[in-house]
Amino acid sequence: MATVRELLEAGIVRLRDSGSETARLDAELLLGSALDTDRTAVIAHTDAPVGDGAAERFRALLDRRARGEPVAYIRGVKEFRGLAFGVDARALIPRPETERLVELVELEVVRRLVAAPRPLGSPRLRVIDVGAGSGAVVVTLAVLLRRRKMLDEVELVATDVSDEALQLARENAVAHAVGDRIAFETTDLLPGSETNRWDVVAANLPYVRSEVIPTLPIAASFEPRLALDGGADGLGLIGRLLDQLDGGLADDGVVLLEIGGDQESALRALVADRLAGWSCEVEKDLGGLPRVAVLRRPAR
Ligand SMILES: C[S@@+](CC[C@H](N)C(=O)[O-])C[C@H]1O[C@@H](n2cnc3c(N)ncnc32)[C@H](O)[C@@H]1O
Repeated sequence: MATVRELLEAGIVRLRDSGSETARLDAELLLGSALDTDRTAVIAHTDAPVGDGAAERFRALLDRRARGEPVAYIRGVKEFRGLAFGVDARALIPRPETERLVELVELEVVRRLVAAPRPLGSPRLRVIDVGAGSGAVVVTLAVLLRRRKMLDEVELVATDVSDEALQLARENAVAHAVGDRIAFETTDLLPGSETNRWDVVAANLPYVRSEVIPTLPIAASFEPRLALDGGADGLGLIGRLLDQLDGGLADDGVVLLEIGGDQESALRALVADRLAGWSCEVEKDLGGLPRVAVLRRPAR
């Protein structure tokens, strides 16, 4: 019977040979999955013998990883802002950069609720996550607001053009006990025709340029193209959303858009063109790259 260490070493060599740049981490996570435990337990018990069944499962998982499938899809879970999200081919795997978007959206919501406490019976703050995918943004926001005891003061809506993605978002909302606090709507960008509806619009829409997609690491080919492809200049969907904002955003509303690290000046030009006079600040992510554009309309 092989030990944890022997299986790990063989797995690392296998994954390194297949081109993984994170072979050790991948092998530890996958052995954890095969043993139905976590990575910490794997690292802590390297001399433990592993049963033949688990060793076989580990080899099958290594095969999938060696073919390029992302570890998150193989394990079926990805950690985002300290929460476990179910992930599979129905939606994009949440990226760490998007935690910055969630942080800024949470701040905006809290600032509004604290700065202008709402009398009992007043309408709730209307917040929408456009292109919700796995639900990483909206579900995390709901969990964070529940911790602050502010969830009752907010109406949360999640939209996506993909039914499948929204189904996954629903599953994640239920797993985090906020399934009944979010309305899910399959639609193209902003739903409905009600004017000046949204107080806070958050969106991590696809922003990769179409021509770049074939050059992405193979793992991205397992993700839905619909979740990545931002059109010829990467800003096609964001541009269409901008066109909906004059009608869709409340007078003092705010829009927070995740963008690519090299898209700040293109985005600023797009905003100046489509939403003349609106302010556009761009917040950086932890790596120092421009990541979240924050848009507000001028006072009227
Ligand atoms: C980059 S993924 C982001 C998913 C999730 N918000 C996250 O941050 O992990 C973009 C999402 O936008 C959705 N999408 C693409 N085109 C859309 C459209 N026209 N209207 C609404 N959602 C769209 C995709 O299906 C995908 O789920």
